[in-house]
Amino acid sequence: MDRRDFIKSSCAFCGVAIAGVALIDSCKKPAPTPVVVNFTLDLTNSANSALNSVGGYVYSNNVIVARINSAVAATSFVALSEACTHAGCTVSYSGSSSRFVCPCHGGMFDTSGNVVSGPPPSALTKYKTTLSGNILSVNS
Ligand code: FES
Repeated sequence: MDRRDFIKSSCAFCGVAIAGVALIDSCKKPAPTPVVVNFTLDLTNSANSALNSVGGYVYSNNVIVARINSAVAATSFVALSEACTHAGCTVSYSGSSSRFVCPCHGGMFDTSGNVVSGPPPSALTKYKTTLSGNILSVNS
């Protein structure tokens, strides 16, 4: 093997190694759907300030918590499992459409967690929310 062949084969090996690392990284295990949920969010804490506006949302304990417009009350909160039921991507909330949206393959969920469109096979798990003063409790 001359010097040129050695460099070519070395570069090919590096390319395969980099592709392998990228493939393993893209197959990270999705966030688990929490079975037991019991936490609180202090709405005066800057980390939760998004929840002070309709359409805002935060993530905590593998749950997405969003402040939504509600037909029943002036405002309310919704807490759903954050991992899409299709392949586990993390959903976000779109206040303009009142939908939870998956960025990976376009899955959409309503504010009850039910599938509206796209490939997700089942609903997101919904959790109870209770606001007391500035403390929002989220429970299974
Ligand atoms: S992972 Fe959400 S639609 Fe595919």
